[in-house]
Amino acid sequence: MASNHHYKRPHQPLSSPSTTTTYFYLFISIITLTALFLFSSHHSTSYSTPPIISTQSIKKPYNNIESASACDYSDGKWFYDPTVRSPRYHHTCKEIFKGWNCIAGNRSGANDIIKWRWQPNHCALPQFDSLRFLESHRDISIGFVGDSLNRNMFVSLFCSLRQVADEVKKWRPAGADRGFTFLKYNLTIAYHRTNLLARYGRWSANAKGGELESLGYKEGYRVDVDIPDGTWAEAPSFHDILIFNTGHWWWAPSKFDPVKSPMLFFENGQPLIPPISPDIGLDVVLRHMISYVEEKARPGTILFFRTQSPRHFEGGDWDQGGSCARLQPLSPHEVENFFSVQNNGTNVETRLVNEHLYEAIKGTAFRLLDITRMSEFRADAHPSSAGGKKHDDCMHWCLPGITDTWNDLLIASLSSIKVR
Ligand SMILES: *[C@@H]1O[C@H](CO)[C@@H](O)[C@H](O)[C@H]1NC(C)=O
Ligand SMILES: *[C@@H]1O[C@H](CO)[C@@H](O)[C@H](O)[C@H]1NC(C)=O
Ligand SMILES: *[C@@H]1O[C@H](CO)[C@@H](O)[C@H](O)[C@H]1NC(C)=O
Repeated sequence: MASNHHYKRPHQPLSSPSTTTTYFYLFISIITLTALFLFSSHHSTSYSTPPIISTQSIKKPYNNIESASACDYSDGKWFYDPTVRSPRYHHTCKEIFKGWNCIAGNRSGANDIIKWRWQPNHCALPQFDSLRFLESHRDISIGFVGDSLNRNMFVSLFCSLRQVADEVKKWRPAGADRGFTFLKYNLTIAYHRTNLLARYGRWSANAKGGELESLGYKEGYRVDVDIPDGTWAEAPSFHDILIFNTGHWWWAPSKFDPVKSPMLFFENGQPLIPPISPDIGLDVVLRHMISYVEEKARPGTILFFRTQSPRHFEGGDWDQGGSCARLQPLSPHEVENFFSVQNNGTNVETRLVNEHLYEAIKGTAFRLLDITRMSEFRADAHPSSAGGKKHDDCMHWCLPGITDTWNDLLIASLSSIKVR
């Protein structure tokens, strides 16, 4: 368990963050290693009495009748199944980002990761059947919208389908970062890259002055809470199924340094005065983006919000030599040590982000795709130092790996929607 709490604010140089490629690699190199931290100073106001979350008492919104009666796939356990011989796709699948390729990168135990299977307590989680999925999703388009953790999930789905279908057209539907159509089935999947969902960019004080200037702000990031990032603005009217996420960048002080480069929130083109902290900003952004999607999406579009993906840094955060070298999933007791809000450990942001999310999707058309609980156990499934990284990556997931199980969950949820 991370016991070193001498959090140093990372001072990573950020080169011209305006190009898209730079953004992605920045994310890989920085966010991989970043996160957390914000629950120091300005978060202590809203969480001065941290809510105690026990495994059982995590509240979930019943945003629709189906999810109230459907199986809770997030309640279960991992068991080791030595009969699992080969992953559902080969690690040479071209879409796998090098840093996530644990088999090629010689991460110890990489071949064992997929031998752990998730067993929900009250129902069965069917194994993904690529051919059946392609057959039953003809003429459908699926969009993943979010940060690199959503890309990790997208890549898993792509590789699973690519394993059985080789006529693929590569293109960029509706402004996507990347996308593919499986031609025989006319099934399209795409990944739209966005860190905060809302549009943001560099901000500097204007010599003529202004409201933020008069409060002493000189540099920062302008976040327009009511404007979706251009990378996905067209996605809701294009896709039939959408899977959103955001969370990691809100806790990334190496980019959004609370002092040197704070998030400055704008609404209707005007700065919000008094300025709000990122945790409040997240609520406001979620509210605006969710109603934007509800307005833009065609009737019948299926909307998911994926819950926060847990990190597993031990012995310090990413910049303190934190690592994740385990070869087995955590025990339930260890999970509580890592993630209980009360313990306020290195990876505490996981459940805090979810609280914002649960609140935001209540009463909306969004369904929750709850991958947090199952993923909290899997301290063994991150790339760690695979491929000789300078800092351990205890945030993204090895592929093949557990985002395969996230997709099992997605598909199980989809089939329970279709049955009705
Ligand atoms: C959580 O831990 C951090 C780092 O040690 C500390 O700065 C912060 O004040 C703590 N927050 C709470 C709510 O105890
Ligand atoms: C992984 O191990 C193999 C065989 O020992 C070696 O050839 C290869 O260079 C290693 N790859 C990395 C990324 O270390
Ligand atoms: C392919 O699927 C898209 C929806 O994703 C649909 O709009 C289009 O008409 C389909 N094309 C054909 C030839 O059926």
